[in-house]
Amino acid sequence: MTAVDVRIYEVGPRDGLQAEAATLSTEDKLRLLSLLADAGLREIEATSFVSPRAIPQLADADEVMTRLERRPGVRYPVLVPNERGLERAIAAGVDAVCLFTAATESYVRHNTGMGIDESLAAFAPVAAEARRRGWWLRAYVSTAFGCPYEGEVDARAVVDVSRRLLELGADELAISDTVGVAAPTDVGRVLGALREEGIGPEVVALHLHDTRGTALANVMAALDLGVTSFDASAGGTGGSPFAPGAAGNLATEDLVYLLGRQGLRHGADLDGVLAAARFVGTALGKPEPGSKVGRAGGWPR
Ligand code: COA
Ligand code: ZN
Repeated sequence: MTAVDVRIYEVGPRDGLQAEAATLSTEDKLRLLSLLADAGLREIEATSFVSPRAIPQLADADEVMTRLERRPGVRYPVLVPNERGLERAIAAGVDAVCLFTAATESYVRHNTGMGIDESLAAFAPVAAEARRRGWWLRAYVSTAFGCPYEGEVDARAVVDVSRRLLELGADELAISDTVGVAAPTDVGRVLGALREEGIGPEVVALHLHDTRGTALANVMAALDLGVTSFDASAGGTGGSPFAPGAAGNLATEDLVYLLGRQGLRHGADLDGVLAAARFVGTALGKPEPGSKVGRAGGWPR
């Protein structure tokens, strides 16, 4: 991997597609994964081995991962909620997985039918097996800045669940603004609370939804605090079916433009990302670009 200043972690094929009303065909998902790799993205969350009843949009995860032509140097993590998901991931030749819980009890309950303690207990054997196999392990902390059911979230809750996920062996925490409410002061507050407990920016990735237009401001704040990993979704697709009103993820093209203009190396190619964004928009029946850079293009031309 060539040196980068900032890691872009593409979540479009998973977080992006799981909340869209339309379901892409397996063929289109594979095409999207291929376009994203063409665009120079080196970490692409590919799908989700959750219950197809919970997320019907990703019910073809086994087929996607079996048919995927893996590019050298690209990591393709998948979401795994339990041992059943782990078995499916093993069968599909996966080597990077993501667990997910949240800072708030109600969100985890709506999302998985379990509470936080229960969800962490369910993950323990999954995490242990992933570690044993030498897999890369990421853990999502949803609702880190606000919860659709509980409102404001205390940073101590984020710290507590983060610590427990690291104890399970997570390589990275995706601190997530699931409902897209954070402003830079919130980013400083939460990252500060984590750092005070010894959880530094080197294990933190920021997962931002651009619901209220604050995502790029939050990226800048996090960069100032030493975070160098950001999630984004080509075309700004997605939301969460369990986060009412949550708009899409921060669009990869918006992030790529900002980072490039700031002179930061990120390894992605804006035209390639825009091509992927156009493809997924059209496939979802939304040909009108959803992001600012999708509409305006890059600069200079
Ligand atoms: N893959 C496929 N099927 C699974 C599964 C998995 N990982 N885990 C459970 N199932 C199936 C069971 O086989 C069962 O199927 P059946 O009803 O046809 O017999 C059904 O799901 C219910 O299983 P159960 O163990 O009772 O789980 P549940 O209904 O309590 O669901 C979760 C628990 C966590 C598996 C489910 O809520 C889930 O997948 N949630 C993920 C939601 C999500 O992805 N949100 C977005 C992430 S931020
Ligand atoms: Zn998300």
